[in-house]
Amino acid sequence: MAVLPILTVEKPADEALLRQKSKRVSRLDGGLQRLIDDLIDTVHANDGLGLAAPQVGRLLRICVVELPTDYDDPLAGQTLVLCNPEIVRLSEETWEPSEGCLSVPRYWAHILRAMRCTVKARDRQWKEFRVKGEGLLAQVLQHEIDHLNGVLFYDHLPSLDLLRPVEEKPPRQTRAASVAAVPGA
Ligand code: NI
Repeated sequence: MAVLPILTVEKPADEALLRQKSKRVSRLDGGLQRLIDDLIDTVHANDGLGLAAPQVGRLLRICVVELPTDYDDPLAGQTLVLCNPEIVRLSEETWEPSEGCLSVPRYWAHILRAMRCTVKARDRQWKEFRVKGEGLLAQVLQHEIDHLNGVLFYDHLPSLDLLRPVEEKPPRQTRAASVAAVPGA
């Protein structure tokens, strides 16, 4: 298990990779199980809420999502491993939470997201499952699946002028509040 370097848009070669569409996985061999362990180690080391394989340079449809233990969600603290995730339902109701990304250091923005989503995926035992997310969980699921399609959070902005530097981040109070304010995923 290892903490892997995260690709960022600050390097043109990294950005070119982050912009590619990732390939579906047909099965999980030992190498891909190690990749999943490394994704989990890497998201923990970076205090993130999620990480997608292309963010470590592997163009595969695998991502991990984990809400902080103290966040008010039934799945808080659980590590979700999603292989070949697909959004099967998005609510019409939307919100505009603040959002960041481990591959876009030092910036955040308010992003229009569906309030709820249902995602179908396979877990690391290759069993199919569905997860319904609301609020932050729905936001992180949408963000990670975007990564698998080469989409970055600021692509949803009508103008890049709406991208804010981290210095403008709302003041930190509790960890849950700060994570919810600007999730890096
Ligand atoms: Ni991200």
